[in-house]
Amino acid sequence: MGGKKSIGKHLFGVLLSPAKWWKIYSLQKNRKRQDRAQDDAQLKLYNQILPGDFLHYGYFENTNIEPVKMSIQDIYDAQLLYAQKLVELVPNTNNIIMDVGCGMGGLLPLLNKKSNQVIALTPDNNQVKHITTKYTNKVLHNKFEDLDAEPYKNKVQTIVTSESLQYLNLDIALPLINKLLVQGGTWVACDYFRIGAAHEKSGHNYNAFLQNLDKAGFTITYTKDITPNILPTIAYVHWWATQIGMPIKQFGIDKIKVKAPGIHYAVADILPQIDEKINKNINTVDPKIFSAEKQYLLMCIERK
Ligand SMILES: C[S@@+](CC[C@H](N)C(=O)[O-])C[C@H]1O[C@@H](n2cnc3c(N)ncnc32)[C@H](O)[C@@H]1O
Repeated sequence: MGGKKSIGKHLFGVLLSPAKWWKIYSLQKNRKRQDRAQDDAQLKLYNQILPGDFLHYGYFENTNIEPVKMSIQDIYDAQLLYAQKLVELVPNTNNIIMDVGCGMGGLLPLLNKKSNQVIALTPDNNQVKHITTKYTNKVLHNKFEDLDAEPYKNKVQTIVTSESLQYLNLDIALPLINKLLVQGGTWVACDYFRIGAAHEKSGHNYNAFLQNLDKAGFTITYTKDITPNILPTIAYVHWWATQIGMPIKQFGIDKIKVKAPGIHYAVADILPQIDEKINKNINTVDPKIFSAEKQYLLMCIERK
């Protein structure tokens, strides 16, 4: 029948061919060890789902909104509001504003109203390509930790880190921020932190962060806990994963069990491991776990 092989026959052929085993082994072994910061597929996916050029959690005025009643438009609006809240803390200036970890560049049009010297920085190839085609701002294409600070020394009025502080190595980033800021300059940071024990490691530990700030000669001049305002986005993603994603996954497995029982038998042993991995990922977007383990803060930080 037109030479079309069933999936079962195809997999069986692969299993019986030592040449294919070798190919599979060498492809796996030699796979390019890509630095995630340079090509972050997850952030690229978020931008395809939410095309507002923001890659952060957004800010909901209505903290009681239920996931089942939310739309992508609500998240889109919340992301713009988050950007506006953050940019309200940035003063007008003739000096440089640097958007460190600028993502797809969504903050740039708002920051351009505050200065005509707004510089974006990201290590991600895809983000640089996007920004250079859509915005006129200068883009520095590197990790912040690798920035050549000399040309910008004491020339930056405001450094913005919008959900990018969590990626920075503080031992390198804090002295660098100190070097870049003009006298009286501000670092506006918006991000989440781990408070106490957490089941996964994203976000800096808040107490360690405070100690690092103090040691590096910084003090927090403004803080707002916006955890309740970002939680609706997390609750929405969690709702999709548990109410739509998991049932679809189970439907697929049940279908394979009926249509291709041999394949189901062959993979049955690894299904619990796959479930464990999925559940771990789902837990990171469980709003109850997030609010017990993390705190999302909007802050202004200045030299002491
Ligand atoms: C969650 S996104 C936030 C993007 C953007 N600030 C926003 O609010 O939409 C995190 C950003 O940090 C960048 N990033 C990751 N590691 C970095 C590093 N070491 N130095 C500078 N930026 C980094 C990512 O490429 C991405 O642009």
